Amino acid sequence: MNIEPCSYVIFGATGNLSRVKLMPALYHLDVANRLPEGTRIIAIGRRPWNQLQWLNEVLDMIKAKVKEDFDEILFQRFSQRFHYHQGDINQPECYLSLANTLTQPEFPKNIAYYLSISPADFGSVMNLLSEQHLFNEDEGWRRIIIEKPFGYDLDSAQALQTKISHYLNEEQVYRIDHYLGKGMVQNVLVFRFANVMLEPLWNRNYIDHIQITHAESIGIDSRGDYYNSAGAMRDMLQSHLLQLLTLVTMEPPVSMDAESLRDEKVKVLKSIRPIPKEAVHAHTFRGQYTKGHVNGAKVPAYLDEANIPSNSTTETYASLKLYIDNWRWRGVPIYMRTGKRLAKAQSTISICFRHPPLQFFRDTEVHCMNQNWILLGIQPEECIRIEMTVKEPGLEMNTRTRSLDANFRNQDEKAIDAYEDLLLDVLKGDRSLFLRFDEVEHAWRIVDPILQTWAIERDYITTYPAGSWGPEDNRLFDKDNQYWRESLLPECK
Ligand code: BG6
Repeated sequence: MNIEPCSYVIFGATGNLSRVKLMPALYHLDVANRLPEGTRIIAIGRRPWNQLQWLNEVLDMIKAKVKEDFDEILFQRFSQRFHYHQGDINQPECYLSLANTLTQPEFPKNIAYYLSISPADFGSVMNLLSEQHLFNEDEGWRRIIIEKPFGYDLDSAQALQTKISHYLNEEQVYRIDHYLGKGMVQNVLVFRFANVMLEPLWNRNYIDHIQITHAESIGIDSRGDYYNSAGAMRDMLQSHLLQLLTLVTMEPPVSMDAESLRDEKVKVLKSIRPIPKEAVHAHTFRGQYTKGHVNGAKVPAYLDEANIPSNSTTETYASLKLYIDNWRWRGVPIYMRTGKRLAKAQSTISICFRHPPLQFFRDTEVHCMNQNWILLGIQPEECIRIEMTVKEPGLEMNTRTRSLDANFRNQDEKAIDAYEDLLLDVLKGDRSLFLRFDEVEHAWRIVDPILQTWAIERDYITTYPAGSWGPEDNRLFDKDNQYWRESLLPECK
């Protein structure tokens, strides 16, 4: 595919996301010769740096990330693409000078604006861009990439969308959910739709329940202000985990084009049974970490982190039970949980199958009749495992669990960061891995009643020690034999 070059304008270029994700991703794309010839990167930052000072910053960002793979010559080539644009994104002068810069012949006429800034600034940045005619498509395309969170709740997301659609049409908007750029997340679709033997089993007749866990051992780093107003439900569940859920449960799309794929995801979100406010306690659980030990190191309590008010009841752990009311999934509980400062970093989708209809080994030595599981390890371990029960060798009739492993990466094949894929898709104009507004809207509809209930229950929050698996929230489970799956290795319960 012949991709046209563009001017990538990065708002918030000196911020954390740019440092740890965007700059390393652009560097990797350049090293792999995937950035079209002539592509330029305009980094907008408030700091009074000159071009050289900025490049030194980029050098630090790249070195910190790529470590021993760093290549001085390739970095020199990469650095030629940059232009540091100093300015205050809330002031019109910044846009006037940006407009001037972009008319210079060395900058390609297609322009992608990446808003890696506080959502509170989205509206005014769009306004100021528009005032300088920077969305005008007379000479090339204009695309805008918006980082999550897209709004704070349903109302604010709709208000933001109204603002955006005032300046741009939907084809120009790329709402990022970086989970969709992860190799293993894309593999969920391949696993489901390229292996015909799974399809007859992928429904309420054979599946007991589904679990999606995103556990993090890290805390909130320096993001206290943002995190304390967001909490785990907004930060992870409303976005990334609901996206994972749609991929695991959606119907096969008519094709892999962006609209067909997103149509099917929206259908899932629309079929999720609403949680009325009076049922919030039965369907959700929240907690906050206290001090503890993670990977052998002592870590502070959430309330002792920087920029966190000492009486905060923001949740750093959230779990949720949902039902999808359609023919395929009616009655199958979906359990989802996420938390910071948990025992280990691990994201997994676990699919638990029903027991065989008859326990015909009842009068034998068989005691450990585990259910079959399919485990999709998203990160850090990427794997697809199908757990089967087999007979133990020997004279007795005993069983054990063995897993069939479908490793999708060979040892010499490196993982590609999600942002590399996504930044390239913007250049290609491929929106299949970006969110359409109705996806965002329906995701907010699901979590809004929970957030509203939690917002008025601010007196108390359950705690869990940092380094544990979170608070005891077994009451979410529909059956006594359901439990949170913690390991990707066979477990005997
Ligand atoms: C971000 C959240 O969207 O995703 C963070 O704001 C979270 O709080 C991160 O840590 C997780 O992403 P990843 O790719 O590290 O799993």
